[in-house]
Amino acid sequence: MTAAGEHVVPDDPVPHLFHAAANAGFRCLAAEYPRTTFRHLDLPAAGTPSASAVIGALHIAAEPELALRGAKVYAKRLAYVDAVDGRPAPVLEDAAPLGFDDPAIGSGPDDHVVIIGGTGKLGLEFCEYFATRGANRITLLSRSGETASIAGRLRHIRSLGGARVDVVACDVGDEASVLQFVYDHVTDPVDVVVHAAVNYVDAESGSITPDLVAAATRSKVVGLMHVLAATPLAPRCRVVLCSSIAATLGGRGQILYAAGNRMLDVLARTLREQGMRAASVQWGLWNVQGPLDTAGVDRVEGAGVIPMRPADALSVAFTGATTDTIVAAADWAELYDIVSLFGHGPLIAGLVPERPPAQLASSVLPTTPSPVAAGSPTASEPATPERPAASADSAVFAELVVTELNRVMGIDGGDIDRTVPLVALGLDSLQALDFRRRVKSELDRDLPVEAILGGASFDEVVRLMDVGSETAVGG
Ligand SMILES: NC(=O)c1ccc[n+]([C@@H]2O[C@H](COP(=O)([O-])OP(=O)(O)OC[C@H]3O[C@@H](n4cnc5c(N)ncnc54)[C@H](OP(=O)(O)O)[C@@H]3O)[C@@H](O)[C@H]2O)c1
Repeated sequence: MTAAGEHVVPDDPVPHLFHAAANAGFRCLAAEYPRTTFRHLDLPAAGTPSASAVIGALHIAAEPELALRGAKVYAKRLAYVDAVDGRPAPVLEDAAPLGFDDPAIGSGPDDHVVIIGGTGKLGLEFCEYFATRGANRITLLSRSGETASIAGRLRHIRSLGGARVDVVACDVGDEASVLQFVYDHVTDPVDVVVHAAVNYVDAESGSITPDLVAAATRSKVVGLMHVLAATPLAPRCRVVLCSSIAATLGGRGQILYAAGNRMLDVLARTLREQGMRAASVQWGLWNVQGPLDTAGVDRVEGAGVIPMRPADALSVAFTGATTDTIVAAADWAELYDIVSLFGHGPLIAGLVPERPPAQLASSVLPTTPSPVAAGSPTASEPATPERPAASADSAVFAELVVTELNRVMGIDGGDIDRTVPLVALGLDSLQALDFRRRVKSELDRDLPVEAILGGASFDEVVRLMDVGSETAVGG
């Protein structure tokens, strides 16, 4: 339970930095402990709800994210910006149009765009975006400054619109370093601040230490605060904070990353309360290499997230009125299947293109083998064609399945202990879904993913599928 961790109704104050972040981190636990049900309930900032209201809310079935406000319980849902239940989205009271579609922004004779983490993948994309639009002066901040690895890209950007592009070595986690940057390089108030600095920390709950927390928040949160405190900002200044969809959907090992990003969302709202044009954008995956390593990208892509072209991501985020949004591309049905495994399906159910509810359910839930007597199909039901590897030859079938499992787990030529739970062998939830996909396409069988996450061994999984096939063939 958190208090004031979410902004639910117009009267709610800016979410509490710690409570908001704690919930974003908490959500990630569900991916670590797939057999445990996690629920989050946010209480109002003021007043004490009755115990019965709290218990009643906690017993609302299958709702992972709830908030109590007055006598009402609210469930969290993501919705497309341009439509909520088929109706135009409400104009949010604190919407602060960033107006980057206005070519004048950043391109006045004295305008100055500062990009924190400007030498990173997204930082350079932002730099090119502003340079292309005629920006006058762009300053990129990073600890390493102008290195050979970005020289070619910078040459290209500098040739685009004639922008003066400076790269300044500045550790934003160090207040003195930020003050030095401002003293040396900021003569007039800054017109645009983009915050794209990150130190990505992948850590599961058991391995989190104070040092890791400090590392994960150093540039993303503390660094931003240093820059905002020290840098004079023009009255019309726009501030864009690069957050991540991980702050809303979580992910295994992303506790600190999700919490840090959620803090950016809160800080953007705080800036808006102070009258600034600020937005936090929770990006999905860009098709540039990012803070995730190759294995990390594979995991995210495996979950149905589709890498976005920078130009698409930027045009979606920067056109029209922008407040805190998620800008992401995904196979929403696939992503729904994944997050449903951890109980978070309702959050994105409204984004899934329509398909029959039964199909949605069956792709997530294992088919329960029912004891059906083998016999002829009824006259009205056509016989199901015999599929390869029927239960008559379970041993052959098992070998075909183990081949797919070895591919998923990257085991080359080896074999696994077929009697211990697959999760104990290191098969994680995303691999389990990949396993299901392969088994479906290669063997036309429905792999019982929930049984796997619930601790089934390879032998048990094969047995469950064999029983399922008898049921299907028998009609
Ligand atoms: N890439 C994606 O697909 C993606 C998706 C969702 C969200 N995001 C978010 O978008 C932002 C940018 O991501 P990215 O992929 O561009 O990351 P990146 O390539 O790793 O770049 C990070 C940048 O931050 C700088 N930096 C790190 N610590 C710093 C410090 N203490 N002071 C100053 N600069 C510092 C790095 O330079 P030095 O190491 O030289 O300091 C680098 O320029 C991040 O906030 C990330 O969470 C990215």
